[in-house]
Amino acid sequence: MNDSPRSDALPSRSAETGRRAVTPCSIVIFGASGDLTARKLVPALYHLFKDHLLPDPVRVIGFARREKSDAAWRGELGEALKQFSRSQPVDQAVWEAFAGNLFYCQGDLTEPDAFTKLAGKLASFGQEPLAHNLLFYLATLPSQFGLVVEQLQRVGLLHREPPPPAWQRVVVEKPFGHDLSSAQKLNSELRHFAEEDQILRIDHYLGKETVQNILMFRFSNAIFEQLWSRQSVEQVQITVSEKLGVGTRGGYYEEAGALRDMVQNHLLQVLALAAMEPPVNLEAESIRDEKVKLLKSIRPLRPEDVARQVVRGQYFAGYADGQLCPGYRQEPRVRPDSNVETYVAMKLFIDNWRWSGVPFYLRMGKRLPLSASEVRVQFRPTPNVLFAAPGGPGLEANAVTLRLQPDEGTSLRFNGKVPGPTLKARPVRMHFSYNAEFGAYTPEAYERLLLEAMAGDPTLFIRRDEVEAAWAIVDSIRAEWADRPLTNREFYAAGTWGPVAADDLLAQAGHAWHHPQPVT
Ligand code: BG6
Repeated sequence: MNDSPRSDALPSRSAETGRRAVTPCSIVIFGASGDLTARKLVPALYHLFKDHLLPDPVRVIGFARREKSDAAWRGELGEALKQFSRSQPVDQAVWEAFAGNLFYCQGDLTEPDAFTKLAGKLASFGQEPLAHNLLFYLATLPSQFGLVVEQLQRVGLLHREPPPPAWQRVVVEKPFGHDLSSAQKLNSELRHFAEEDQILRIDHYLGKETVQNILMFRFSNAIFEQLWSRQSVEQVQITVSEKLGVGTRGGYYEEAGALRDMVQNHLLQVLALAAMEPPVNLEAESIRDEKVKLLKSIRPLRPEDVARQVVRGQYFAGYADGQLCPGYRQEPRVRPDSNVETYVAMKLFIDNWRWSGVPFYLRMGKRLPLSASEVRVQFRPTPNVLFAAPGGPGLEANAVTLRLQPDEGTSLRFNGKVPGPTLKARPVRMHFSYNAEFGAYTPEAYERLLLEAMAGDPTLFIRRDEVEAAWAIVDSIRAEWADRPLTNREFYAAGTWGPVAADDLLAQAGHAWHHPQPVT
């Protein structure tokens, strides 16, 4: 059997509407000594450089408090790259060439002089674009965002309307606030110094190929889009399951919890893409308008709805792959009586013409049996006659599953006749696998996002009203949980699929979770 990629065999069609050029620039990373820089940002920039996608020239400045030379910073990042690079082994010659563009700037965010020093460093590169085309990456605490942009404006590095062709943009990492009012405050602080189109709010799920494919799948395939509504769909399940626990991030998790960490952003973004109306065109604002409309059509959760429709959970010690894993309360920097949730499941309704009455089940959890993210759209069953007639074979409903990661692909489940003299039906699967079709091309989400940020295309970033709409949903849930301690029914053993209450949530409507399967 020939299992080499098939992408060359069929013509592809580009939907690009004039891709914006990436021009020479400097990227300044604030909070450069954090994990994100070594694990994600620098490996992403290295791969962009390797693939000749970075502008030339380009400079990357790491801004952080610790005293360090350029050489020491490059050395640290080079070591980290060996561990975190998606392609192995690291190409040392390419790394050396790229590392020559990395510089370190020691400074304290609270000291105005540090920003003057940064401006001096940028000017010292001696080339106009490197001093005026600037991407500021704020991998700092959200409470520092306002301070940083204010100082950048003060030293003349950030202008609301830089004289063309210069450009200046600010990328902000999540969490974007911790509730609606803090997000609104952050938005106002940022908007004081930058236009909305200069602010790029990151949700790294939007940088994933498979998440981008949701729109392509829906709006380039008539057969599926025609079925994508309450007339044909019975229920939708969106699962983001993770095998790992919170590990060393206990301190952060105690503040955030699963609802803020993953639901407010990744899950609601995936939901918006899976359920939104077709945009009028592929412009960033058209797509984001539809996402906001969708988020605003989610039926608000009253306190009594939260009790009925939202389940939280926390893992206790259990076995995964034969290994005993600690419970959440035993993780480092977690309070021994913590009530923070590591699992959330919810049933949402979208009150619009297309989806009225269709339950959308969303769930995410740490320390589940498998790491996998998918969207499963289950269609209505056939009428109760013929093969599905009472006493006939119990027919499984048809379903389309968009597997977002890993083993990226799309599957269609339908019934087929088991060969033989009896009328036996069995669910069978048609499967598209990214790897089989296109080869193992799996760029990290951050590669695409950094590229789009340099190009100034906001499509894959979250707009102000989007982030606020998502917080409004999450806040209504938080308010209801408040300081209510977890009950026994809300705990689950590490290595299992979450608390029993989550099964009950679906059982009320005669539904059941479809757990992601390891792809064989
Ligand atoms: C991050 C969360 O945003 O996403 C983490 O803070 C989570 O808790 C991670 O593990 C999941 O991302 P991915 O790309 O591994 O699915």
